[in-house]
Amino acid sequence: MHTQVAIVGAGPAGLLLSHMLRLAGISSVVLERGNRDHVGTRMRAGGLEHGAVALLEKVGLGQRLKDIGLIVEQTDFRFDGQGHRVDFAGMTQRCFTIYPQYEIVSDLLQAHAQAGQEILFDTPVTRITGVDTKQPRVYFLKDGQEHELSCDFIAGCDGYHGPCKQAIPEGVLKVYEENYPFAWLGILAEVAPPSLEVAYSCHERGFAMSSFRAPEISRLYLQCPVDDKSDNWSDDRVWSELHTRMDVPDRPALIEGRITQKSVTAMKNFVIEPMQYGQLFMAGDAAHIVPPTGAKGLNSALADISILAPAFSAFYQRGDRGPLDRYSETALKRVWQVQRFSADMCTLLHRFPDTSEFNWRAQRERLRYMTTDPTGALTYAENFVGLPFEEPA
Ligand code: APR
Repeated sequence: MHTQVAIVGAGPAGLLLSHMLRLAGISSVVLERGNRDHVGTRMRAGGLEHGAVALLEKVGLGQRLKDIGLIVEQTDFRFDGQGHRVDFAGMTQRCFTIYPQYEIVSDLLQAHAQAGQEILFDTPVTRITGVDTKQPRVYFLKDGQEHELSCDFIAGCDGYHGPCKQAIPEGVLKVYEENYPFAWLGILAEVAPPSLEVAYSCHERGFAMSSFRAPEISRLYLQCPVDDKSDNWSDDRVWSELHTRMDVPDRPALIEGRITQKSVTAMKNFVIEPMQYGQLFMAGDAAHIVPPTGAKGLNSALADISILAPAFSAFYQRGDRGPLDRYSETALKRVWQVQRFSADMCTLLHRFPDTSEFNWRAQRERLRYMTTDPTGALTYAENFVGLPFEEPA
């Protein structure tokens, strides 16, 4: 078996890459460890920056997004018993669109099916070799048998735990990592949010957040200890804690509904430099992770592909390897800006277990500056609606 680009992982990064390569007439094979349901139903990210929306529209994936995506124009920050709205759309003339990751994946799977392009599900990649030669190889299991795929390039879109990074020789990668001393309990509930806006609360009992995935589906989060378990949280405890942290007199109270999912997620920043080695190019969660406070994980994965797909086109269509050679350098500029914003939002909004009285007071003053001063608010607004994406040709 031979293909031009072997893509490891059928998350949003891998699927968007194979879709964009197909539009450019470049062959690829997507190898995915999980099954179709696993890939299509995971409850992950929920919101798209304006650049991500423009990219998806440009590559023919804009219709359902336009039909069912929900436009958000402001963020409500709650602290010191009050709500403070930042009208980011008014300030930037750009909005944020709630369109869950499973919908993007569903659109991409549909586009692959329509084009007759198979995705190899239940196909774990076990190892890759020869990434510094002209013909790297990907080894994978299918029905218990090991198979081999030779290719010109490998795209490592295999998430944080994937195997691709391991093919890079020791000493090449620099890994940057920051772990936070708290986690998030993520809650999915069958109830409309009090209003179609994202609300963050910085409370002395910890961070809380109210968002949504659809008009009748709320997505809520509570800061919890790193080693907490969702079993420790009865539905009553969840709602009681959400009311305590989120409700303020000047905003409608949260509405309770049936909880359908609870899970605990750790918070971390993680970046590898460079994001490429030889014929291997890493994208999405495989190369960088952000704490989810800034809603950037999915957007960053798509932003990588907006650089990588045109770089493959330049190589195959014009024989120009320059954009591929510069991929990591180009992608990391945006990646680091997103890391910086996500880390800032994470430290600004959570209650650190060992925080001093001074830091806790100063933290709320930083929030006050960000929500009431025009410069502070504009900085938040520009970062939240998203830094520019590369324009696909
Ligand atoms: N072989 C084949 N596939 C693999 C292997 C392997 N050995 N290891 C991991 N994978 C697959 C996973 O099963 C997963 O489907 O790689 C895929 C990686 O997808 P994601 O984790 O969704 O990563 P990415 O496409 O980069 O999207 C990033 O995910 O975590 C969120 O916030 C993040 O929304 C962002 C998005």
